[in-house]
Order: sequence, then structure tokens, then C-alpha cells
Amino acid sequence: MNTATPPTPRSVTATAPGKINVQLSVGARRPDGYHALTTVFLAVALHDTVTATLAATGRTTVTVIGTDAQRVPTDATNLAVRAAQLLREHHGTDAGVALHVTKRIPVAGGMAGGSADAAATLLACNALWNTRATPAQLHALATELGSDVPFALLGHAALGRGRGEILTDLPVTGPLHWVLALAHGELATPAVYAEHDRLHTLRHADAHPSPQPPADPALLAALKTGDATALGAALVNDLQPAALSLHPALAATLHTGRTAGALGSIVSGSGPTCAFLAADAHTAKSVARALATSKAVRRVRTVSGPAPGAHITTR
Ligand code: C5P
Repeated sequence: MNTATPPTPRSVTATAPGKINVQLSVGARRPDGYHALTTVFLAVALHDTVTATLAATGRTTVTVIGTDAQRVPTDATNLAVRAAQLLREHHGTDAGVALHVTKRIPVAGGMAGGSADAAATLLACNALWNTRATPAQLHALATELGSDVPFALLGHAALGRGRGEILTDLPVTGPLHWVLALAHGELATPAVYAEHDRLHTLRHADAHPSPQPPADPALLAALKTGDATALGAALVNDLQPAALSLHPALAATLHTGRTAGALGSIVSGSGPTCAFLAADAHTAKSVARALATSKAVRRVRTVSGPAPGAHITTR
């Protein structure tokens, strides 16, 4: 039997997916400022990659390349940097790391790109530093980093409750074919939630938001069987009116995709990326072509879902 400890790697690469919320139902604002959510996450095959390389004691640095890399902060506010520091604090190591992020997920686009970077960093640094955090410990650290980070670890499809971090796996049949329309500009998630609250107060002055909205059984059934027509009809995002209020050009983008043959259209998370579900890969291409001609659209991607959660690719 070989009992020798494997050599410590000098460099570890991990990858994590972006997500679309096929249901995003927003409940009451909680005393901690977060909103109670019922959401159905679907991970899609659009991944960011993080390579973690051993560096001088206690140091964390980050470099970023790829889609809109210039928009990503490289200081201590970078979510990948925060992930490395949190793991270091919790496991009492003073190891250093140089992080190198390759972006494919739109930046500040409502697809949890920063959360994907954090999830990939947790896995990569855990292997690099041999800190041996268990999956449950990684989930706890992910929750501390942000509401969408636990799902980036898990991938595939899941029901999210609480503020989005309490996850239950959901059965899903794929591939589901999506078209993503990246918009000009960004939307800050806290601003979209604040606009949601403002609109809610205006429109339902007397109604109290539900403490925890229900999941839609028709949507869960469509996801399970891979029925794209039924899923397209069931897509719902309570943040969409707020995103449209802050970014009115998105209404035209949603219209363009629908008239080009999408089965359903939705603002992804807090936006401004819009997601369109197509019946098959061929239809996805023609929806993508129609969107590419729109002035309101900055870039178009076709992706499939579900996709696996964060995992190590090389060490
Ligand atoms: O958890 P995360 O850092 O991603 O959240 C960013 C912001 O989005 C929060 O500060 C809050 O303003 C808003 N948010 C919310 N309710 C949630 C998740 C996020 O109000 N369930």
C-alpha cells in the first residue's frame, strides 16, 4: 500500500458555471436587508476558469482576462480574492496565492459570474493549500461570500430558498437550448432589489409580500421532463419589472427574441442579460441572429443547460 502524501501541486485550475434563474420569486424584505426568495437555478455551459498558483506567504493577487475583463476589479473587493482570504482565515493557513481568472460569463450581467469565480477559487485554493475543507464547510464559506455562490458549487438545477443559499437538487432533462443577449451597461443587484421594493410599494400599497413564495409545480415538471415549450411558458422573474424600469431598452430585446421564435424570454436574475429558451439548437441560432442585429444588444451567446457545478480541471 502506498501511504505517501501526494506532492503538493504548484498550480490548480477550477471552472464554474453561470446560471439562469428560470423562476425568481421575491418575497418579503428580511430584517437583515436580504429578500426571502424562492428560485429555480439552472446552470448553463458558460464557464469562468480560475487558476490558483502558489505565491509568497499571505499574499493574494488576481489577474483577469476574457470577456469584459477590464470591468472586473482586481483589488480586495474581487469576489475571488475574498474567497481565497476567507478560506485562508477559516483554515488558519497563511499560504499565498496568485489567481488568474478567465471570464466568459457576462460581468455584472445577472448570471452570477463573480459567484462562479468565488466557487472555483474555493475549490482551487482548497486543493492548492491542502486545507481539506469538506463540502459542507465549502458550502458555509460560499454562503458567507454571496447568495449565489453555493449554487455555483452545486451546478445542474436546484431549488433555492432563504436568500437563495438553501439548496435542494432538482431533476432536470437536457439539453435545453438558450440564447443570451448581453446588454450595454450593467445593473447593480442591490439597486435592482431597491427598485423592486419601490415598485412594489407603489403598486400594492396594502399588500404584504409573501414571506416565502411557492415554487411553481408546472415549471418543476417541465424542467424534470425537459419540456421546453412548457418551461418557456412558465419562466418568471419578479425582478424583471425593476430591471426594465432601470434599463428600459431591455423591453425591445425581449420582444425581438420572442418574435424570432423563442419559446420564452426572461431577464436573467437582476439583469441586464436577457435569456431566451429555444426549441432546439437550430432555432437558437436563428433567435441569436435576430438578436445580433438589435442595437440594444451588445453581444449574443448560445449555451445549453444544465451544466455541472464548480470542479477542478487540472492540478
Ligand atoms: O448575496 P449577494 O452579495 O449576492 O447579494 C447582493 C445584494 O443583492 C444584497 O446586498 C442585497 O441588496 C440583494 N439581495 C437581496 N436578497 C437576496 C439576495 C440579494 O436583497 N435574496
